[in-house]
Amino acid sequence: MTEFEIVHKDLMGRIGKFRTPHGNVETPTIMPVMNPNLMSIGAEEMKRYGAEMLITNAYIIYRKVNLREEAVKKGIHSFLECEMPIMTDSGSYQLYEYKDVEVSNKEILEFQQRIGSDVCVPLDIPTAPYVKRERAKDDLEETVSRMREARSIIQNKMLAGVVQGSTFLELREESAKRVAEIGFDVYAIGGVVPLLESYKFDELVDIIMASKKNLPLNAPVHLFGAGHPMLFPLAVALGCDLFDSAAYAIYAKGKRYITSDGTRKVEDLRYLPCSCPVCSSHSVEEVKESEDLLASHNLCVTFEEMRVVKQSIVEGSLWELCERRCRAYPALLNALNHATKYAGVIEKYDASTKKHPFFYLGETSAHRPEVLRYSYRLNRFKLSGNVLITATVGSKGKEVESGNYDYVFFVKPPFGPYPAELSESYPVGQSEIPAEIDNGAKTAALQNVLKLLELNNGKAKFVFAYDDSWEGHPLIAEIGKHAVVRLMKGGDD
Ligand code: GUN
Ligand code: ZN
Repeated sequence: MTEFEIVHKDLMGRIGKFRTPHGNVETPTIMPVMNPNLMSIGAEEMKRYGAEMLITNAYIIYRKVNLREEAVKKGIHSFLECEMPIMTDSGSYQLYEYKDVEVSNKEILEFQQRIGSDVCVPLDIPTAPYVKRERAKDDLEETVSRMREARSIIQNKMLAGVVQGSTFLELREESAKRVAEIGFDVYAIGGVVPLLESYKFDELVDIIMASKKNLPLNAPVHLFGAGHPMLFPLAVALGCDLFDSAAYAIYAKGKRYITSDGTRKVEDLRYLPCSCPVCSSHSVEEVKESEDLLASHNLCVTFEEMRVVKQSIVEGSLWELCERRCRAYPALLNALNHATKYAGVIEKYDASTKKHPFFYLGETSAHRPEVLRYSYRLNRFKLSGNVLITATVGSKGKEVESGNYDYVFFVKPPFGPYPAELSESYPVGQSEIPAEIDNGAKTAALQNVLKLLELNNGKAKFVFAYDDSWEGHPLIAEIGKHAVVRLMKGGDD
């Protein structure tokens, strides 16, 4: 039986049901990080914020004798006083940073199994970005061999396979293929924290895509260390299902107030732009003074944003959400634009019709998977005889009457040519575009006009009629090589 069932999809994002020994979890979701040394919000209390699963660090428990003994005696659920599903991290990241107590892969896995973790994580090596390739490759070999060893140690618990490979995309691909071959219950993309901290979101997109393309669809994918809600829409759109958040507490400690579009220094707040229980019942001054109140607000908005993401998946409007949210920071917008380079991959996963209309929200929308799909499907039009393609508004009726055409196509940016019969169907018929269209939408439309001409080259004779809103676009001259082009002046009506 598969432990992960997909219930809704949009782009590469999905709402899934993940079955664990401690109950079902609906993904995408955030697992709050429970640090046994500093728990301002208790594990059981996390439910009230919307948590369905927790994550804790096995290494942090293991390295302190008193915590270790207590966890072994009680089991991790009683230790944290909570019956929610619990994932335990191996502490790779902490070992890599502090290296105080040495521990082997086998030792930490057996410990996770002993304390009754629901999802165990082997001791992968989180290779930093931009290291020498040889280093990344050597680390990867060691990580893969530990993954294999883990598979033989963990018998009756779920196990996560970690993808590493630094910023080398071919190593990320290889890593994903090899862990997929071994076979895990969860897959995790690791080694990205330094990229998150330096806002290298475009490189994060590359790494997620290199990994996702090679991972099975029937298991959840965890993006290690991505706890800031501003990243959720894009990361979910690319197929990440599980997130961990220590961010809510770390930001609170640093006196930072999280919002869905970034972070504010709490000292700069004159107002509380939020209606969570904290913000609606405390003054700005009170929130400024209290790390606990800040942590509570941060956690509320983190879960709120994930609900917004989930609702968008159900509606089929996740791309529109990405367009809105990614305008919070240039680095995020850059990442969204970068993600359009993968429109061809995303298109394969995406639903071909949606309930939600296609909203054109700027040039990024010209490269959406739906537009690419439309271009792929232009080869379905097999044309012969005389064909009119009319990119005109007022004068089109006249041109249709005055000619004798076998086929008439209208033009709608960013899709391009469509026959009248498709004027009501998705996506052309269910698209909303601004009255003033930008060059990105025009270019995408005219590229598809050219494609239609080239696909039917020698089989049909084309007239391309356009009005002055298109005048001066360089692709008109290109179209003129394959069609008779006619500029329809406004007065022709
Ligand atoms: N936490 C943040 N990054 C990582 C990683 O790459 N591996 C593991 N195991 N935990 C992490
Ligand atoms: Zn709030």
